[in-house]
Amino acid sequence: ALISLRQLLDHAAENGYGMPAFNVNNMEQIHAIMQAADACNSPVILQGSAGARSYAGEPFLRHLVQAAIEMYPHIPVVMHQDHGAEPAVCFRSIQSGFSSVMMDGSLMADAKTPSTYEYNVETTRKVVELAHACGVSVEGELGCLGSLETGMMGEEDGHGAEGVLDHSQLLTDPEEAADFVRKTGVDALAIAIGTSHGAYKFTKKPTGNVLRIDRVKEIHARIPTVHLVMHGSSSVPEDWLEIINNYGGDMGQTYGVPVSEIVEGIKHGVRKVNIDTDLRMASTGAIRKHLFDNKSNFDPRKFLKEATKAMSGICKDRFEAFGCAGQA
Ligand code: G3H
Ligand code: 13P
Ligand code: ZN
Repeated sequence: ALISLRQLLDHAAENGYGMPAFNVNNMEQIHAIMQAADACNSPVILQGSAGARSYAGEPFLRHLVQAAIEMYPHIPVVMHQDHGAEPAVCFRSIQSGFSSVMMDGSLMADAKTPSTYEYNVETTRKVVELAHACGVSVEGELGCLGSLETGMMGEEDGHGAEGVLDHSQLLTDPEEAADFVRKTGVDALAIAIGTSHGAYKFTKKPTGNVLRIDRVKEIHARIPTVHLVMHGSSSVPEDWLEIINNYGGDMGQTYGVPVSEIVEGIKHGVRKVNIDTDLRMASTGAIRKHLFDNKSNFDPRKFLKEATKAMSGICKDRFEAFGCAGQA
């Protein structure tokens, strides 16, 4: 059944677990997530970006999620819009049937330039007012995601930065978070604590703490009823990176967020954990390997099935680690 983000994350808070929110663009990703959720008896968050909507087409994305709900009636599903760059994007998603939207007012509508605090409050407040009237939840974002090492905003291929931020923008301020929540009424808040988007997060293998869990605690103490969200939470699996490169790929050496640190965040108020890159890597690795091992195959179902299996394996691992297995 379709439920709102608020309903799901309130249950997660009461029961002390976190939810992975996987990005979806096509049928195989949705199959993978639903198969894993079914096997683990976990609720799911399926999130689509504006890019997903333009890739699949609005009716396809909507009907794919509807199909998942129809096929797995016992699994609670949140249909969430990821990174709305402006209120109009959120309004279109509400019209399309999403039960939750993210208004990312931390950046201007170009989704690149950091915005002012006043702009963020105003655009987010506008979305909350309308979304809540429709029973739809809202996630906001305060602070900009970027590497604490270099100040670079995350991007997809690791070549060339999209922007450089100063240190104060890279960590969410707890006082400002309290004011933001008071002024906007968001249900969930994405915070900056050292994660960044894409595959190229850390150049060295993380040994100790790479995230500012102390900051999570401070923010959670100020806004205990608002659910904290960690973006850029892929772990960049080393085994899939190796498979990609062993079967004709060319990705640079890179490291992601250790699952153990995400679990630590969940203990202190993180309830939604955004993951896209990990499923992209698993599916790419599985397809490369299948096509290399089966040179005569030209039936896409065969390699897409391998991709689905690979993605589903990651989903199961996260459902187990974050404690949402058994919570459906
Ligand atoms: O944060 C962005 C997500 O990884 C979605 O990426 O905009 O390429 O669909 P996308
Ligand atoms: P990753 O690039 O770490 O998978 O993060 C995805 C994300 O935050 C989507 O909003
Ligand atoms: Zn994100």
